[in-house]
Amino acid sequence: MPNENLAQAKKVKNDEFYTQYSDIEKEMSAYLDFNPNVFRGKTILLPCDDPEWSNFTKYFAQNFDRFGLKELISTSYAMESKTYKSNYQPTLFEKSNPQFDEIKTSLNGKIFTLTSDRTGDQRVNVDDLEWHYLQCDGDFRSEEVKKLRNKSDIIITNPPFSMFREFLAWIMEADKQFSIIGNMNAITYKEVFPLIKANKVWLGNNYKVNGGAMFYEIPEDIANLDQVREIRTNEIGKKIYITRVQGVRWFTNLDHGRLHQPLPLMTMADNLKFSKHKQIKGKQYYDQYDNYDAIEVPYVDAIPSDYDGVMGVPISILDKYNPDQFEIVGNGQTMADELGIKPVGQKFVDDYYEQGNKGQIHAKWNNLVYHVGEKVFVPYQRILIKHRR
Ligand SMILES: C[S@@+](CC[C@H](N)C(=O)[O-])C[C@H]1O[C@@H](n2cnc3c(N)ncnc32)[C@H](O)[C@@H]1O
Repeated sequence: MPNENLAQAKKVKNDEFYTQYSDIEKEMSAYLDFNPNVFRGKTILLPCDDPEWSNFTKYFAQNFDRFGLKELISTSYAMESKTYKSNYQPTLFEKSNPQFDEIKTSLNGKIFTLTSDRTGDQRVNVDDLEWHYLQCDGDFRSEEVKKLRNKSDIIITNPPFSMFREFLAWIMEADKQFSIIGNMNAITYKEVFPLIKANKVWLGNNYKVNGGAMFYEIPEDIANLDQVREIRTNEIGKKIYITRVQGVRWFTNLDHGRLHQPLPLMTMADNLKFSKHKQIKGKQYYDQYDNYDAIEVPYVDAIPSDYDGVMGVPISILDKYNPDQFEIVGNGQTMADELGIKPVGQKFVDDYYEQGNKGQIHAKWNNLVYHVGEKVFVPYQRILIKHRR
């Protein structure tokens, strides 16, 4: 398979990964710790789900009463519409239901709703879920699912990774509260970054878990294509295949405590004297970019507390970002033109290759660059920030 197809296959396959219960619980707990009533009286929509598989549906159905939800709605995408098709078999749950339909089971999406106690056990939980086929295939862009979006208060899911930009725009156009999972790189997308800069979207609380990677459950028949990290057996004896995806984050506009904790920092002088990083310790000053008026700060914990100018920091700053402590000025990638980051110039390119660097670089390219003595450097993705005073 040519590389491009392989990359595409991998991308689409990631779209079929299922979020683990423990990851959902950890993230939602951060919102609940900050505001115990965050879900009270709310209608929660879980789109791009697969309610019979979904830990999102399970989590919110189990906690329906405790959170004081008004309504829980989850929708799934029809098997025939998925780009990556698995050997689909309707579950026994669906097949044994009087409304089971041979055709709709693969062509239509499904909707599960939970509003009240139907079983008479005085609790609202998984057993009270009602379902039917959607008229459409469950595509989040359909009019049918849009109507559900419009009537809901909070949207929570792991949307297909390959459609993250479109999915976030779909939420923003309806001005909803949300918590969704996406790749860390989405931060600098031109559709996403302005929202982060304007403090309308921020990262969730999960970065400390597994170094920012997340473990996913994958359907058995696509598991062999992947690097299966672990095989578990669930409570009904079914094998669960687990894989790991690096650089995954929650993107949200729900408040949580970490956002309000200031990052503890040392002064510039103390960093230069005592930093644990050899790129900083013992130097006279922080490196200055050649083509933009800002200093290069290669580690988040090396941000000087007393520097008033602009600082270029790794994108992982957003894991620890407190909007009262810092202001985001821009980013060195998708905003380079807007910020006036100048082209690197031919001399920089010549020096770059002469020093044995291999990556593609062009004189007209305007990414942040800097020199240390004669040596040239092109830092990995940087966010430009300033202290708020
Ligand atoms: C990464 S999986 C996550 C599933 C579930 N939300 C979870 O986290 O466990 C994304 C799901 O979205 C579905 N999907 C793909 N394209 C879609 C679309 N256009 N509209 C709705 N769902 C879609 C995929 O088939 C898959 O079931």
